[in-house]
Amino acid sequence: MDALTALHSRTSVPRVSGPAPSGTAVQALFQAALRAPDHGQLRPWRFLRIEGDSLQRLADLFAAAALAENPSLNEDEVQSARGKALRAPLVIASISCAAEHPKIPVLEQDMAAACATHAMLLAAHAQGIGAVWRTGPFAVHPAVRNGLGLAAHEKLIAFLYIGHPDGPQRAPRELPVADFVQSW
Ligand SMILES: Cc1cc2nc3c(=O)[nH]c(=O)nc-3n(C[C@H](O)[C@H](O)[C@H](O)COP(=O)(O)O)c2cc1C
Repeated sequence: MDALTALHSRTSVPRVSGPAPSGTAVQALFQAALRAPDHGQLRPWRFLRIEGDSLQRLADLFAAAALAENPSLNEDEVQSARGKALRAPLVIASISCAAEHPKIPVLEQDMAAACATHAMLLAAHAQGIGAVWRTGPFAVHPAVRNGLGLAAHEKLIAFLYIGHPDGPQRAPRELPVADFVQSW
């Protein structure tokens, strides 16, 4: 798939199944991330590759976070929280490592990490791999942050749920460019 086709046609794939993409395909995702625009070449990002048994450990963290918020959850509700971690055979946790810098604002570093994350979505799409970017309350919950080993200044900016697309692909919604662009 050429670059413009990938850019113009990417859609999120909320339902994916196994098997996880090959090691080569996953490597291509990370290589794409590392080409993100990056003021000062700070590389203000890191990624956790979560698959196999590690998905159960992520599910444990989601359950712990849900119970910390509401200790009276019943078993079904705890299983529902766990299940959110198990929606894909591969989860990539994308972390912004943005830190105070004399010249590069933290916001710019966060944006670089977001660009890297978007690059992974595009690289997945270009390879026929399904992926969706999710965050939600678990991405900011201390139980999840600590369990994944985030430092105090780091931000968990995405869980990318990645796998084989389930069902037919949704066509991208065509938006009129003119609605968003003015000549100035
Ligand atoms: C920072 C960020 C966080 C997001 N978090 C969620 C989320 O928690 N749950 C969700 O359903 N979609 C979330 N989305 C949106 C989806 O990834 C997706 O972009 C959206 O559903 C539109 O679909 P499309 O990408 O096919 O246009 C998030 C997107 C971004 C950029």
